[in-house]
Amino acid sequence: MPDMENLTAVRLDEENGELLILDQTLLPNEIKILRFRKTGEIREAIRSLRVRGAPAIGIAAGFGAYLAVRHSPAADCRGILRDFLLAKDALASARPTAVNLFHALDRMEKRLRSVLDTSPAEARAALLAEASAIRDEDEAMCRAIGEKGLPLLAPGMGVLTHCNAGRLAASRYGTALAPIYVGMERGIRFKVFADETRPLLQGARLTAFELMAAGADITLLCDNMAAAVMRRGWIQAVLVGCDRVAANGDVANKIGTSGLAVLARHYGIPFYVLGPTSTIDMDCPSGEDIVIEERNASEVTDLWYAKPMAPRGVGVFNPAFDVTAHDLVTAIVTQHGVAHQPFGPALAAMAAAPAGEG
Ligand code: MRU
Repeated sequence: MPDMENLTAVRLDEENGELLILDQTLLPNEIKILRFRKTGEIREAIRSLRVRGAPAIGIAAGFGAYLAVRHSPAADCRGILRDFLLAKDALASARPTAVNLFHALDRMEKRLRSVLDTSPAEARAALLAEASAIRDEDEAMCRAIGEKGLPLLAPGMGVLTHCNAGRLAASRYGTALAPIYVGMERGIRFKVFADETRPLLQGARLTAFELMAAGADITLLCDNMAAAVMRRGWIQAVLVGCDRVAANGDVANKIGTSGLAVLARHYGIPFYVLGPTSTIDMDCPSGEDIVIEERNASEVTDLWYAKPMAPRGVGVFNPAFDVTAHDLVTAIVTQHGVAHQPFGPALAAMAAAPAGEG
């Protein structure tokens, strides 16, 4: 098993001016670090899920925007701003649902605009500092999410998770998996069940991989088995991440999440959503306003299979995310604490607080 401490989803090699991305499309079979300089390459890496998970996408976009400016030949700050905005537009169009991407890019732009009357060297330094802060804050926030989420669980509980909201999707502790990692540091263990997460198998390929490497008790399920394990009484909590939380507490997360929430309600199991406040979008009043990414049909019909597994030409619907209605969510855990229904006021206060670890 690999040493997960040394496996980081995304980091900057400042000396060489390159972004290092652990290619998650190859996991668990191959560990390969890709090196990128160009905005187009970084956009493609986000688009094709070589780096994925809302916080990691935000970190990649922050460093990607910095690299565009680091390698820009512009001799003045007007030229730097022009090249930054081109890169920002390109990166922002990589994926539409995770709001962390847009938050990170807006933050970078705000920082750049605040130093436009200085030199290009100072502007570059300011962008490096901002992108590094986005990454550093993420690690602190994930740790705090683990601390705030752990008291919701009792030792030995069966917990079900969906997709991958662990350290491969964010810094070090992940979000939905953060209470599991923080618990393990304290000798508290859980029985974790991971949905394989069709069609891209983030649960099978990534969650199972990282939790096994960490020595956790992990059992893999096909997506259609969740009701069976709930009915047997094996699950006492569902923990999921989020790509965007609307102001009313509706949650966009990996396709299949809302079905789990319905099942959890049926079986009386608490359904917890965990994420940093950078995932809250106060400009989205409800889940109706969240843009849901639709991906290529071949991910459903062909990917992973030796032969096509559906008749050629069949109609396919392949949304990457769904929206879980806020009334199905027991609590939303951020670095600042645990919000219960009604979510609106609590989310507004959390989103307005400084990002820090809470
Ligand atoms: O398409 P993906 O793999 O980027 O989807 C990821 C998820 O849905 C995660 O649950 C979410 O981004 C939270 S990651 C901490």
